[in-house]
Amino acid sequence: MIVGAQWGDEGKGKVVDLLARESDIVARYNGGPNAGHTIVAGGETWKLRHMPSGILWGKECVIGAGCVVDPGVFVEELDEFERRGMSTERVRLSGNAHVIMPWHLAIDRGSERRLGKLKIGTTRRGIGPTYADKAYRLGIRLQDLFDPKILRQKIEVALAEKNVWLERVYGDTPLELEELAARYESHAQRLRPYLADTSLLVDRALRSGKDVLFEGAHGTLLDIDHGTYPFVTSSPTLSGGAATGIGIGPTRIDAVTGVAKAYVTRVGEGPFPTEIEGPEQERVRELGGEFGTVTGRERRCGWLDLVALRYAVRLNGITALALTKLDVLSSFAELPVCLRYRLPSGGETGDFPAHQSDFHHCRPVYETLPGWSEPIDEIEDFGDLPEPARRYVEFVERELEVDVTLIGTGAERERVLARAGAAAAA
Ligand code: GDP
Ligand code: IMO
Ligand code: MG
Repeated sequence: MIVGAQWGDEGKGKVVDLLARESDIVARYNGGPNAGHTIVAGGETWKLRHMPSGILWGKECVIGAGCVVDPGVFVEELDEFERRGMSTERVRLSGNAHVIMPWHLAIDRGSERRLGKLKIGTTRRGIGPTYADKAYRLGIRLQDLFDPKILRQKIEVALAEKNVWLERVYGDTPLELEELAARYESHAQRLRPYLADTSLLVDRALRSGKDVLFEGAHGTLLDIDHGTYPFVTSSPTLSGGAATGIGIGPTRIDAVTGVAKAYVTRVGEGPFPTEIEGPEQERVRELGGEFGTVTGRERRCGWLDLVALRYAVRLNGITALALTKLDVLSSFAELPVCLRYRLPSGGETGDFPAHQSDFHHCRPVYETLPGWSEPIDEIEDFGDLPEPARRYVEFVERELEVDVTLIGTGAERERVLARAGAAAAA
């Protein structure tokens, strides 16, 4: 199980790609095209939206019931892979996954516009409205696309409400039944071969001793229940979500690798205690190439936050950590690491605050570690890292009491250092 331990974009795609080689199935269980996972392999860059990051190794790739799918985006993704000579034959889609419809996109956009300064800063991919309709039991599922009568009826029922909303609340143009029915029926033809009972498929694979890698999207602090609500996404992002999102028991997950950057980034609005003040933020952004895969937005950058990371270890049951982008920190003379938060009441805590106001108004308490100036991207062994870089990693391990088994030293697939325990974690 691979899970994002911060606010997303930790480098999960790269880590999943790395471990997928030794796995039989790679399964996504949450979210939709709000995810953007970049993999750089053999000089080529792949940007995945829905697609599980096992695709490059030709592994069986599952998109589970807990995901939401935008058929138009997914078809584009399939076409792109085929065009670049990658087979998509082994992709499997759950018929229970909900469909992102055009009204969801329009409502996401309209709602953000209306919220103005209070906006969430969503990716505008219709994620929130789709999950809301799912909970409201008004959603359209992938399996509905394959029966034209059911599809038409469901679109008609939805439009009766959504068009009123679009026109009256957001001043948007209403959507047209015939056009939508035809467009989604055509998507259905393209998607039909991929449909499968993905819960059964994963269960059978596990029973026959195969290795299944669950790929979490987004990050711990974007979790709908335990994240920095309301500045979160609308799906469960934690490791526990894999069980419900795929349809297997929680006892089937035996190891959880949390992926964290050696610093922190966040896209969109919301509190961020270790966000760097001053020009160093820009420097981290430039060195780390911190611009969103999905929206191209600047990612906000901060120093490593061990309070938040400790929370991620707790929420996900993390058994090993992958610390990515350590190379980006080369050439900083000093590296502040947040160990505790100073609360508005004056006290300090090493535990993530349970109350939102404490988190919104806390100040980070840093310990400053020495940096290093030599590039580390060519290094192949942990022992050959500059002493301060090793100490940085060991500091994280000691504070969190979790082994760092993988260290990212560059975007390319090969730029990674594996340490003892990595095999067990995989
Ligand atoms: P994800 O959403 O968690 O899969 O992460 P993203 O792909 O959105 O963002 C991570 C970015 O960092 C991507 O552009 C990766 O190619 C890149 N990346 C991943 N690991 C490393 C690393 O160790 N070093 C550097 N320099 N880049 C990395
Ligand atoms: P990956 O999988 C970074 C953030 C958005 C916004 C909030 C809600 O690439 O790590 P949404 O569109 O989901 O309703 O937006 O969540 N967000 C992400 N930030 N990486 C992601 O995914 C994200 N998915 C959602 O920026 O703040
Ligand atoms: Mg991303």
